[in-house]
Amino acid sequence: MKKTAIAHANIALVKYWGKRENSLNLPAVGSISMTLKDLFSKTSVEFREDLESDIFILNGKRAKAEQEHRMSQFLDLIRQQSGDSTHAEVVSENNFPTGAGLASSASGFAALAVAATEAMELHYSARELSQLARQGSGSAARSIFGGFVEMKRGEKLDGSDVYAIQLKDERYWQLDMLILITAEQEKEIGSTEGMTLTARTSPYYPSWVASSFTDLSEMRKAITEKDFQKLGEIAEFSCLKLHGLALSAKPGLLYWNGLTVNLVHQIRALRKKGVPAFFTIDAGPQVKVLCPPEYTQKIKATLQEFDGIKKILHTTVGPAARIVED
Ligand code: PMV
Repeated sequence: MKKTAIAHANIALVKYWGKRENSLNLPAVGSISMTLKDLFSKTSVEFREDLESDIFILNGKRAKAEQEHRMSQFLDLIRQQSGDSTHAEVVSENNFPTGAGLASSASGFAALAVAATEAMELHYSARELSQLARQGSGSAARSIFGGFVEMKRGEKLDGSDVYAIQLKDERYWQLDMLILITAEQEKEIGSTEGMTLTARTSPYYPSWVASSFTDLSEMRKAITEKDFQKLGEIAEFSCLKLHGLALSAKPGLLYWNGLTVNLVHQIRALRKKGVPAFFTIDAGPQVKVLCPPEYTQKIKATLQEFDGIKKILHTTVGPAARIVED
């Protein structure tokens, strides 16, 4: 049977970095994210008796061997669950610029989890989907839900308490995000490799893990109280702490370029002038700006004048992953 799903990208406001177990992909810290309305993956999965191996078409082209392998390993989890060993053709498209260094693994694995389980007639709950998507990519566990989402670190070794939950849905609080594309080449060091290196070599890693609980509880409170100032402050703190941590790995990981740094200064300068704008940055050089919607155009106009920005994407809080018609 063929099924098609859409899942939206998400950006962490409290960041995940580090695993407490590798094979089940269990995070060392919890995280909180915002699902993004305008950035999504659309993925079709068709299990077919005539196939001798899985096929993965990504953005109109046969995917690279390592991408196909990773996708196939993920489908193996579903085949194990269903006891059905049929191979599948997977066709996936991201509606946001690819090769732009924007993490597509979150929306990609979430859409794949939803489409593939439905195509296998497994009918998973959102929680089960989140646990499954996590095994493709940690951040994908959050893209199952819309709105503001928390990924639990959990304690158990079998991962049964490691899943995302929705804190608030997408109608609760309209916050905008501008994504400033500063470079279009793919990042050099992927998140799994970067996390492993950081956990193994950074002297700051234990403090990163220990201090995450406070960030999570403060972020939960900021969301409950719709306190934008607090939300922005914690998001920037968690982001800078992540990059400070990455810098302290051996060899140090530096995901930023010169423009990333300039934009951080620019956003702080805007804030000094009374414009409520905060930044967050993931494992790459793009800068994401959080702001209340009434300020978006002003911020965009100011930043647009800044030399070197390749593109600015504008989005807001988005919905959960779901099955769609072909
Ligand atoms: O889930 P992964 O392996 O793509 O790692 C995500 C890492 C960050 O984007 C930097 C942080 C996060 O919580 O999304």
